[in-house]
Amino acid sequence: MNICVFASGSGSNFGAILKAKRKGIIKSKINLLLTNNSGCGAVEIAIKYNIPVVHFSRKKYSTFTDEEYSSYMLEILQKHDINFIVLAGYMKLVPPEVVTKFNNRIINIHPALLPSFGGEGMYGIKVHKAVIDYGVKYSGLTIHFVNNDYDKGKIIFQKVVKVPEDVDEYKLQKKILKYEHKYYSKVIAEIENNINEKSIN
Ligand code: GRF
Repeated sequence: MNICVFASGSGSNFGAILKAKRKGIIKSKINLLLTNNSGCGAVEIAIKYNIPVVHFSRKKYSTFTDEEYSSYMLEILQKHDINFIVLAGYMKLVPPEVVTKFNNRIINIHPALLPSFGGEGMYGIKVHKAVIDYGVKYSGLTIHFVNNDYDKGKIIFQKVVKVPEDVDEYKLQKKILKYEHKYYSKVIAEIENNINEKSIN
């Protein structure tokens, strides 16, 4: 596959994917990083690994209509020969036209067991705080296909992680993030083995 990673934040999952690529766990090419946040950690990682970066945001293209915005995103993806998208801490919805074009070819990782603790506004440390406030005993991570709703596409993989007694949200986040780094690349590698060869055009 020719992958574009979409990220908005520190990019630790992106970094883990690039390491997995170096180790040969992932065979795909990581052709591009698309970010809505040009100052984010993911950009620094991309520079370190020589991955091209595209800064793409609604703010940057504020004069575009929604249609122009999504067409331009598709144009960029096509230019870089992308046929698979990996969301790694991407805080925006992917435009519906892109979701349609990349049907079952966009995945996301969420740091809880969906459909619980997901949806709009449920991201980052807020997820782990809600998990702890609820007193649930098991959290984990979910990798799923992306549709037009936040965190709602079909689930591909889940890993259950025990919530230790008296843990705080930061420690829980750290614990789950370690599993994210391990399993996101494994799932990408499994998809590589199962996906058909057709490219997006
Ligand atoms: C991860 O917890 C991921 O599950 C969620 O956003 C966070 C991104 O972290 N979607 P990072 O930027 O990869 O460090």
